[in-house]
Order: sequence, then structure tokens, then C-alpha cells
Amino acid sequence: MSRIAYINGRYVPKSHAQVAVEDRGYLFSDGVYDVLPVHGGKLAFAERYLDRLDRSLGELRIEKPMSRAALLHVMNEVIRRNHLRNCSVYVQVTRGVAPRDHKFPKGVKPSLLVMARTWKAPPPDLLAKGAAVITVPDQRWARRDIKCISLVANVLAKQAAAEQGALEAWLIDNDGMVTEGSSTSAWIATPKGELVTRPNGTEILPGITRSVVLDVVRDLGLTLQLRPFSREEAYAAREAFLTSTSSFVLPITRIDGKPVGEGKPGPIAARLREAYVKAAHHA
Ligand SMILES: Cc1ncc(COP(=O)(O)O)c(C=O)c1O
Repeated sequence: MSRIAYINGRYVPKSHAQVAVEDRGYLFSDGVYDVLPVHGGKLAFAERYLDRLDRSLGELRIEKPMSRAALLHVMNEVIRRNHLRNCSVYVQVTRGVAPRDHKFPKGVKPSLLVMARTWKAPPPDLLAKGAAVITVPDQRWARRDIKCISLVANVLAKQAAAEQGALEAWLIDNDGMVTEGSSTSAWIATPKGELVTRPNGTEILPGITRSVVLDVVRDLGLTLQLRPFSREEAYAAREAFLTSTSSFVLPITRIDGKPVGEGKPGPIAARLREAYVKAAHHA
């Protein structure tokens, strides 16, 4: 549980935190966010996450609310005030508060919200059995590389997964290729054991966990292909897994109800999970 949030210059109990009705995040989804992992009380890979936040802000031409050092201070203060050790920190920046008008308002300061939340370990059963995913059409906008707060298409996809008893939805583009999950990056290992994940571009969010796992893959000397893969290729994969800040590396053992490989978590995902956790503790 975490109670204290930072909002526009003040640390306040979350139940008292308020945003203005004319905040452009609320009216237009005109804002960006990021979610950073905290392991043992310390932010992990903070520079990578803050580079992504800066990039998202730059792409939408939203001013930075404060310097990187000041933002790090606020995030650490939120962690400290909530007595958290293993958690995630949510940072949201919107263009600010102004009378409703689509054009950028002049002379408005961005709004900044920082919250933290205890990390929920995946149930042991999930790691032992692996997760199920479904596939659904990717109905998002064309700039998925920006971590924009407008997530309604992702919400619908995740809800569809939940309604079918799956953990995640893999999103399929117009060419029948997997882009990514609704809130996770998508990977497979081919029958020959080559790892495949889609290269960064406007079609996917550049996942930070994915970037750390890519470093691990290179360090371990595993074979990697950065290319899109199709739904059929995923059905025929030896292993499949997802990566994300909150799930780390999670094996996927069913896609659209079909077993992946032998229908059990495979050794590659397990090895990458272990290496990721080690890297996170030393980050
Ligand atoms: C659409 C999407 N893809 C991938 C990810 C995984 O990214 P990360 O590893 O930075 O958490 C997320 C995380 O929120 C996401 O929303």
C-alpha cells in the first residue's frame, strides 16, 4: 500500500490528491507517463526510463516539469515517504491546465504526478505454469513509441484477455504480425531456438525491460533476430514470453488456447528472467 503522492509541488495523501477538471490530461489525454521499477528501495535502470520519458515529452512538445535531478529526488522521496522497497513508481506529465481548446495553450506549466505502488509478486503458479495470451487486432494510434496516457485501445485489449481467462492480449497489425502486448513486449523463440522480437519503431513502445533483456541476450551470446513475427509463427514457436517492468520476463504457454511448444515454461525464458533479476539488483 502506498499513501503519499506528489502532485504539482506537494506531497499529499493520495485520498486528498486532486487534479483540475481542465487539466489537458483529463480532457484530451494530452500527456505522457512512465513506470519505473524499484528493487530493494533503489530505482533500477532510472536513466533508461528517464530518457524514454524525455523522448515522449519531446515528441509531444510538452515542457519538462523539472530537471532530471529534481525528478529523481521527488521519486525517491515518494518511495521513502511510503516506506517502500520493492515497488513501481508512476510518473505522469500533462501539458497543464487551460480552458478547453485543442491548440497548445500559451504560458501554461505542465502538471506532474508521482505515485508509487507495492510490487505484487506473480503467483508461484503463474511462473510454474506460464501465462495464456489471446490475439486481437491492434487498434491503437500510429505513434505507439510515445508513452502517451491515452490507453483506451490497450484497456479494451486487456479486458478482452481477462474475459477469456488470459493474462495478456497480443496485438496483431494489418499484416498479421504481432506488434506487442497491451502492456508488455512480445517475444518468441523459434523451433531452432532463435529469439525473435520486433525492432523498435513507431509500431511499438520501446520497452525498457526489453532493452535490458536484449543486453542480456547479447551477453549470453544467444541468437537474436530483431524482426516482426506473425501470429502463425507464434503458434509454432518453441517458447514465447513477455517482458515488462512489473512482470520482468514471464513465460507464455498458451496462445489463443493452443499450447506453445510442450505447453510448459521453457528454459530460455527462465534463464532470461534470472539474468534480468540479477541485472535489476545491480542496476
Ligand atoms: C504497450 C506497452 N508495451 C510494452 C511495455 C513494456 O515496457 P516496459 O518494459 O518499459 O515496462 C509496456 C509497459 O507499460 C506497454 O504499455
